[in-house]
Formats: sequence, structure tokens, C-alpha cells
Amino acid sequence: MAQAMQRQWTLALLKPDICANAAIIPKIQQAMQHHHLDIVHYQDVLWSLDDAERFYAEHKGKFFYQRLCGYMTSGPFQAYVLSSPNAIKDWRQLIGPTHPVRARIMQPTTLRALYGLTDTRNSFHGSDSIANAQQEIQFFFPNLNLHHL
Ligand code: TYD
Ligand code: MG
Repeated sequence: MAQAMQRQWTLALLKPDICANAAIIPKIQQAMQHHHLDIVHYQDVLWSLDDAERFYAEHKGKFFYQRLCGYMTSGPFQAYVLSSPNAIKDWRQLIGPTHPVRARIMQPTTLRALYGLTDTRNSFHGSDSIANAQQEIQFFFPNLNLHHL
């Protein structure tokens, strides 16, 4: 019996600095498609401080936490559900290292190397595990049933 192709989903964010420049968004969507990451769902988001603090609760107490939450509430951004056989790893590889300065040295073709501004204003988010992806997709798309996609 033929096996169904493995499918995986991840949550991607185009953070406020990217969405402030509307001309960049189609370029990012093209990069997703070029890497066979299907855009299953997306929505525009504007967060309250409480939203940001809940989403980034795992970082509470770290030196960058308040700066991060301030940045993520500084303007609208976009949340995407991406799908491919290895969506979690593929999207994180495409965005590159957390720190854009390091990305420009180590992986200069990644999206954070190309577009990231600072360690906090690093333009993109990607889930880092299957459990984390499920939780993060639920956060933004509570009515989405991945089993039905
Ligand atoms: P983290 O989960 O470590 O990185 P990633 O987004 O690559 O999974 O950190 C979450 C966010 O916190 C990161 O995207 C930007 C911010 N951050 C800083 O501002 N400074 C830092 O030194 C780190 C590690 C993260
Ligand atoms: Mg992370």
C-alpha cells in the first residue's frame, strides 16, 4: 500500500519591520514558494502587549524580553501557516540564525541576513519543534484543524 506523503506544518511570522515595507512581502512569499513551503493560511495581526507577553512567555525574565514584546507590538505583522514535508526545519533554515549580524557572516543568503536589522528586530519567526508548531499555530489560528488540511 502506498504511504501517504509526510506533511508538517509550522508557524512563520513576518515581523513588524518587514510588514512596514509592503514591497518586501511578495519577495518573502516567493522565497517560501521557491523552497516548496506552501502557504496554507495567513492573517494580518496587531498585538496588544498582553498578546506578545503570552506568546513569548518562555523568554520571560531574559534581558531582551521587554524589548522583544515592545517591538512585536510596534505595528502590524503577518502570521503564516506553512506546509511541506519538513516545514519546521525548512523555514528555520530559510530564515537563518537569530542574530542578523551573525547570519550575514555565517549564512549570508538567509532571510535574516538579507533583511534583519538587529538581534531583536530580526524580521522573522519560525517554530522550532512539532509540539511548539502545534501550540503556536493554535495561538494564531484556534479554529484551524490541521488534520483536515
Ligand atoms: P529565540 O527563540 O532564542 O530565537 P529564534 O527566534 O531564532 O527562535 O528568541 C526569540 C526572539 O527573541 C528572537 O527572534 C529575537 C529575540 N532575541 C533578542 O532580541 N536577543 C537575543 O539575544 C535573543 C537570543 C533573542
Ligand atoms: Mg525561538
